[in-house]
Amino acid sequence: MADSRDEPLVLGIETSCDETGVGIVRGTTLLADAIASSVDEHARFGGVVPEVASRAHLEAMVPTIERALAQAGVSARDLDGISVTAGPGLAGALLVGVSAAKAYAYALDKPLYGVNHLASHICVDQLEHGPLPEPTMALLVSGGHSSLLLSSDITSDVRPMGATIDDAAGEAFDKIARVLHLGFPGGPVIDRLAREGDPEAIAFPRGLTGPRDPAYDFSFSGLKTAVARWIEAKRSAGEEVPVRDVAASFQEAVTDVLTRKAVRACKDQGVDHLMIGGGVAANSRLRAMAEERCERAGIRLRVPRPGLCTDNGAMVAALGAEMVARNRSASALDLSADSSLPVTEPLVPGAEPVHDHSHAHAHTHSHGHDHVHEVSKDNLYS
Ligand code: KG4
Ligand code: ZN
Repeated sequence: MADSRDEPLVLGIETSCDETGVGIVRGTTLLADAIASSVDEHARFGGVVPEVASRAHLEAMVPTIERALAQAGVSARDLDGISVTAGPGLAGALLVGVSAAKAYAYALDKPLYGVNHLASHICVDQLEHGPLPEPTMALLVSGGHSSLLLSSDITSDVRPMGATIDDAAGEAFDKIARVLHLGFPGGPVIDRLAREGDPEAIAFPRGLTGPRDPAYDFSFSGLKTAVARWIEAKRSAGEEVPVRDVAASFQEAVTDVLTRKAVRACKDQGVDHLMIGGGVAANSRLRAMAEERCERAGIRLRVPRPGLCTDNGAMVAALGAEMVARNRSASALDLSADSSLPVTEPLVPGAEPVHDHSHAHAHTHSHGHDHVHEVSKDNLYS
């Protein structure tokens, strides 16, 4: 026990969307992963309602923190730091987590780390497969983002290689599930139905895979429209929609493009480790196809177990612990949530001491189009 005690004990808080997650890790060892989800409260709206999510976070926060501490069998006084998702995500939801983290950090006199949600989705894999190889290519696919990221140090260097130019992968799953009247969120149910369908039944389009298209960017909007039209045509002809075949063929189109581009990026950049994270990484077909294609290309694949792919507090704690382990300076206590925090910033220093005014300003007021797709769960309404 003596050496593991030297590793940083960190509590992480995640509230960027609809899950109130609190995780506790010691170094790269997971001690507790407590979650309270408001997903049921959003289901009837067909997407996450920000105000409902914020209120649910507020109600769940203290009990979830207490549950995590009890699960880990540690006292808050023993923590070496508190980390929290500072962005990107829903502004009001993030605010609840950041406020709670600041309050605990201040009251307990512990360092505070405002970390990036996307970097956390990558770092979580350390809890399962040990230290991340450097460099690692990461395919990050969730309801709010779809990106290829190259990282040589998850605490300080995350470089975007490509991203979706319209819908996120998970968003496409959710929208197609809605057209098929399958409920929300759509990913898990499409995954399940697709197992009984024929992935080659319908040839749906593979976005941005032409020779002149950007190699690492994604587009799922054309696919979404094609699937919706195909279903509509069946319905108006009075024919039954073969739900399982549609689910399997749609899923095949998404996973084909994701894995093809990820493997290509690894080969082009000479990177031999690929990690896949985010909610869509829970998809069974994506996992199987990635395994097959990586094996063929001589790339080592790392995918966390499904429970660590969807939003959770353990991933935030994992990145916080890495910040402590690498002696990164803590965030200032006046840290603010940033709904469009760029993926290139794994750690938010906070606005104190104020030296770069333009930067601080951009943080509180920027809602530029650059980051719109990173927080596009609101688009689920459309
Ligand atoms: O990472 P996450 O929990 O939240 C965001 O940060 O967005 O991802 C949620 C997304 C949803 O769109 C959900 O439909 C999708 O991940 N998802 C899946 C599966 N499980 C969750 N998509 C495909 N297959 C799955 N098994
Ligand atoms: Zn996420």
